[in-house]
Amino acid sequence: MAPRKIIIDTDPGQDDAFAILFALGSPAELDVVGITTVGGNVPLALTSKNALKVVELAGRPDVPVHAGCPAPMVRKLITAEYVHGETGLDGADLPEPVTPLQSEHAVNYLVRTIMDSPEGELTVCTLGPMTNLATAMTMEPRIVPRLREVVLMGGGFFQGGNATPAAEFNIFVDPHAAHKVFDSGVPVTMAGIDCTYTALMTPEWLDRLRATGSRAAIEAANLADFYRQYGTHKFETPARPIHDACVTGYLLAPQIYEQRQCAVTVDIVSPETIGMTVVDWWHVTGRRKNCNVLRRIDPAPFFELMLERISALP
Ligand code: RIB
Ligand code: CA
Repeated sequence: MAPRKIIIDTDPGQDDAFAILFALGSPAELDVVGITTVGGNVPLALTSKNALKVVELAGRPDVPVHAGCPAPMVRKLITAEYVHGETGLDGADLPEPVTPLQSEHAVNYLVRTIMDSPEGELTVCTLGPMTNLATAMTMEPRIVPRLREVVLMGGGFFQGGNATPAAEFNIFVDPHAAHKVFDSGVPVTMAGIDCTYTALMTPEWLDRLRATGSRAAIEAANLADFYRQYGTHKFETPARPIHDACVTGYLLAPQIYEQRQCAVTVDIVSPETIGMTVVDWWHVTGRRKNCNVLRRIDPAPFFELMLERISALP
């Protein structure tokens, strides 16, 4: 069976790096045709440089990286250096990339690539604010029916939010973009914090990853050591959710997720709950079930698979 073609839209971020390495370490199942970057965890110039660093770390400088939107569609950019550090990839000592960014803007790349690909072939995986994808849908609405699926890290419901009590960071940063994507009619699968909070990276697992000895595995473990520092006070555990990698895990092993097709809407109006993904888990609204909501993961097979794939990289 031919590998599934995906575009990864991302704001690296240590957990984005894990998601990308996990995907690039799975070439039999996934063909990463391109990466697009967005302002999110850190500003666009840094997320773009970080994406280049990650593809070089994976030994895959052939994967084109296109820089996209520096800010959300309506609101001002909110970044998360308090989690990811000033560079966005604090923790690892990665050299300045030698691979150039592509000259084509990410939004133009998304439109062109989706329009030029066979209908239903491409999946877009968003790991940050969905500004690029929503802008592409605005620029060329015909891309919507051509997409196979959008698999995103973002949102939540039972766990509330991590940026506000109601909203998860990716959705909170650009709620208007998220609203457009969820409302577009494209098949959406959402790995919200309900799911990612069950994907807890432990110190023991990181020791095993580092011990596999590949440079990618060692640097990934170094990234995680920094990333784990935030939130230990909040969660009172050294285990930390590896949010974005849950997207890659779903593409590779959907059977290890508890999931349910639900109606999901994104709040873009209420000052207190803007960016909240309102999940109709019990179907009380009768609205169209537009989203496959991932609620839990089975961590054992997830982390075994991720260790196997990242350690397979050089
Ligand atoms: O809320 C977690 C999400 O926000 C992850 O994608 C992380 O990288 C940050 O972008
Ligand atoms: Ca991210």
